[in-house]
Amino acid sequence: MEHSHEKSTPQRAQWASNFGFILAAAGSAIGLGNIWKFPGRAYHGGGALYMITYIFIVVFIGAAAMIAELTLGRHTQKNPVGAFRQMGKQRWTWVGGLGVFTAFVIVSYYAQVGGWVMQYIVAYLTDSASIYADPAAYFYRVLGSEGMPIQAAFIYPAIFLGLATFALVRGVEKGIEKLNRVLMPGLFILLFLLLARSITLPGASEGIRYLLQPDFSKFNTEMLMSALGQAFYSLSLGMGIMCTYGSYVSKDQNLLKSTAIICSLDTLVAFLSAFIIIPAVFAMGVEPGMGGGFAFVSLAGVFEKIPYGFLVGAMFYLLLFFAALTSTVSLIEVVVSYVIEDHPQISRKKSTCILSVILLFLGSLYTLSQLYLPLKGIWLDGRNGLTYPGLGDFMELLTDRLLIPFNALIFCIFVAWIWGANKAAGEVEEHGVTFHLKNTWMLLIKYFVPVAIGCILVAGLGFGMALS
Ligand code: PHE
Repeated sequence: MEHSHEKSTPQRAQWASNFGFILAAAGSAIGLGNIWKFPGRAYHGGGALYMITYIFIVVFIGAAAMIAELTLGRHTQKNPVGAFRQMGKQRWTWVGGLGVFTAFVIVSYYAQVGGWVMQYIVAYLTDSASIYADPAAYFYRVLGSEGMPIQAAFIYPAIFLGLATFALVRGVEKGIEKLNRVLMPGLFILLFLLLARSITLPGASEGIRYLLQPDFSKFNTEMLMSALGQAFYSLSLGMGIMCTYGSYVSKDQNLLKSTAIICSLDTLVAFLSAFIIIPAVFAMGVEPGMGGGFAFVSLAGVFEKIPYGFLVGAMFYLLLFFAALTSTVSLIEVVVSYVIEDHPQISRKKSTCILSVILLFLGSLYTLSQLYLPLKGIWLDGRNGLTYPGLGDFMELLTDRLLIPFNALIFCIFVAWIWGANKAAGEVEEHGVTFHLKNTWMLLIKYFVPVAIGCILVAGLGFGMALS
């Protein structure tokens, strides 16, 4: 697996090895969603019941959709816009464009959260007593309850984006691949250390038991939709990332095997995170939750009670930092690859640097709108009607409930029906790869996956469910 391959087209970047590609794609998929959203969902969705449901969704829906994105990328060897342009003539170019736009919006706020995470690494190492004194008040201060949050909105996100930029300007192989080769093993080491700490806490066994017992009474549409939405978000589908990363894969690689490994690693990390968080919160009597409020506020109650908790806390945020950085790099790469391929006169270095500066200022509005500035967005769904959420919430609603599922849907319809499932399967079979479940995949991608994504859209927009 480890050996390099000759480049077939010298101008086009390629991964140095398939292992590097798998790490990078897994690095994109494994992000904040796995670590702070999944455990809370598993808790509320009936423990093992949720996890089993999630596995089925990843195998039958998520993996099928990932194969579709990867094949389109590898077939065209282009960024999403170029890929759709080449395959569908001008009429479909906007789909790729929307993918690039989605990646752009997500990364603007994802990088902000990456900055907050860095700020918390430092805070736990230097000033854990102030966090413990009042975790919520501390978090609000970070977000600007007592003045402009310069550190959380500008300084730390600038460092975070700077690190991503540093990797991105060095290119696919020397930058992105190398970064993932360092950070991903680090991420796994941290995960196992934290797991060992959590499950050996007195009282942790109750949490483990809770996770292993399927609570069938929790089976309902909401739980099903939550698992579906989580899977798409967690696998980084629906914004052209896998298309872009797939475009750097050489033709002699087996995309099926790669998909299986990427999906397994992503799911493994989500499950491990659940087995870190849930036993710890059970042991320490903290209410399990999800998202930023949980990770930045509630978990402080856990770290406070553990011996050397400030170090465990710093390790936890370091884990989040690794996860967020590799996802951020994949998101920016989608935009960069589009810019440099559509405008060859702009260099990778220049486009990455300019983009990062734009992302920093656009993204700062996400942090500023949390408490400091009353910036609002506008939203409409079937449950709550017309509402004016804060700009930060609006950015998340826009991407999670609308853009990601919508893009994923069109992507999959395009591959299955416009390009043709048969031809896409042909791309998988290049260089003599046998596509064992070809007919099953074609059935899934033509009918099941679009229907499943349609359900996510209806649940999120029609019924206003929180899905990812
Ligand atoms: N998959 C990443 C996660 O689970 C998030 C992400 C979403 C990354 C979309 C890239 C694109 O956090």
